[in-house]
Formats: sequence, structure tokens, C-alpha cells
Amino acid sequence: MTANETSRIEEYYNFVLPLIKESGKLFLEVKKETLEVENKSDHDLVTIYDKKIEDTLISKIKAEFPHHRFIGEESSGTKHGTPTLTDDPTWIIDPIDGTTNFVKDIPFTGISVGLVIEKIQVIGIIFIPHLNDLYTAIKGRGAYMNGKKISCSNVQDIKKSLFCYEISVASRSALFKLILTRLQFLTKEVLAVRSFGCPVISLCYVASGKLDAYQCDGLYPWDAAAGTLIVKEAGGYVIDSSGEEFDLMKPNFIATSTKTLAEKYLAIEKIADNTWMKKETDL
Ligand code: IPD
Ligand code: CA
Ligand code: CA
Repeated sequence: MTANETSRIEEYYNFVLPLIKESGKLFLEVKKETLEVENKSDHDLVTIYDKKIEDTLISKIKAEFPHHRFIGEESSGTKHGTPTLTDDPTWIIDPIDGTTNFVKDIPFTGISVGLVIEKIQVIGIIFIPHLNDLYTAIKGRGAYMNGKKISCSNVQDIKKSLFCYEISVASRSALFKLILTRLQFLTKEVLAVRSFGCPVISLCYVASGKLDAYQCDGLYPWDAAAGTLIVKEAGGYVIDSSGEEFDLMKPNFIATSTKTLAEKYLAIEKIADNTWMKKETDL
């Protein structure tokens, strides 16, 4: 990374942090009864707030830093084609993660903003307005919740691990059998299973040691850009669900407190995946 960009990371962070906190106030204004909700698809909701928050963040950051680029769910989502990540400073934004929770007035919903420079994740900020929880990380400087340093748990034993699995993605037919079979195999191996419908909070909960593992396949860069950096800066481990290196532009991953734990999960999932794939070929 150029010395100039490295020296400006803190300036970028200090500029964007108050904008995110300001946008969070909108979460608390929403009246469930009068909120207009649209279906992007049968299982995907959007509100005017998603677009409003993303547009505000992008326009304010662009006015201050005209050389920056943006990948946001509402402006670069799937209907706009696959977003390309260049070496330029790029803000990756999910204005509301957990929109279904937001619509249903469940407090597990938040804003996620990550900055990537030369394809390296350098800033991660997640704000959960209903809980007034702010999770932050700058590469190489640790992870924080409301200004206090956080760290992942040290759990290595799968039987002692609290596992959060994004089961809502099973609504996609391509993932249905994979998710449910893995769940069938993993449920009996772990302490317990959770699913919050909000990847960004789930990642913050791994980073702060509340959860020991979080996994989701089929996510998008905006779901993972801030949270995976926060986990890594909290001492955690993030790997692609295939066992390959994590790819921010195609996030299928498991984030765990320790590498050993991730390896145990992936070994069980390999058996689960082979089981349903074998059944498919036997049909
Ligand atoms: C979605 C939610 C959901 C997950 C989807 C995400 P959104 O994000 O986090 O739980 O299953 O894959 O896209 O639309 O609420 O930002
Ligand atoms: Ca999301
Ligand atoms: Ca969203």
C-alpha cells in the first residue's frame, strides 16, 4: 500500500465514523406500522431507509474524498452486475444488514462499512443502533466495542462452541440441501446453534467472544467487509467454507475464535457435504 494511503487511514476512519453514528439515528425513528416495505425477492426486503442511508454515506464520503470508490448493496447489488474491486480506496457498504429484522422491529440490525485499499481490508465499522453498540477495527490495531478492546474466545473444542449459522440462506434452492445437511451433522457436535438473520452482528459476536463460530455461505462483499476484519483484529480466524483462502468478493466463510476450531467444523462439513452429494448422484 502506498505510504500516502497508509498515513491517511486514520483520517478516513475519523471522517466516516460520525456519519455512521448519525445514520444510525434513523433506525430509531422508524415506525413499524407505517414503514413502507418492498420485496426485492420472496425472501429479501428493502425499505426507503436502506437507499437513504447508503446514498447519504456515499455522497458525503465522495464530497470529502473524490478519489474513493464505492460498493454498496443498494447501488452495486446483483441487479447492477458483479461489482469489481480495484486497488483504489473502496468503501463497501451495507446500509442496513438484517433488513427483515429492521422491518419487524427486532433490534438485531446494523450498519456495516468497510474500507479496502489495494484489495486489503483496512477499516471495519459496524453500528447497531438499537443496542447502541459500535464495533470498530483498523488493520493492525485491534478490535473495539464502544472504545473497549475486544477479543475472540479461545475455544478450541467444538463441543464447547456456540455456533451461529445463517440458515436463512437455505431459502435459495442451490443452498437448501447443503445448509440443512450441515446443520443436521453439526447440531449434535456443538454446544448449541443460533441464527440471528444479521451477518454483521454475528461477526461482531465472534469478535467479542460471545459466539465461538459463525458461518454463512452465499453472502455478498457488503455483508462481510467490516465484520471479517473486526474478527481478525480480535484475534479470530476467517476461512472460506471450502478450506481455501477467504475471498471478500465471494464470501462463503466460517469465522471462528481459533484456527483449530475452524478445522474441526470444516472436517464435519466435508462429511455432511459428501453425504448429500452422494444421495443426489444415487437418485
Ligand atoms: C441479508 C440478511 C440475511 C442473509 C442474507 C443477507 P440484508 O442481508 O443478512 O440474514 O441471509 O444473505 O443478504 O438484505 O438484510 O442486508
Ligand atoms: Ca446484508
Ligand atoms: Ca442490506
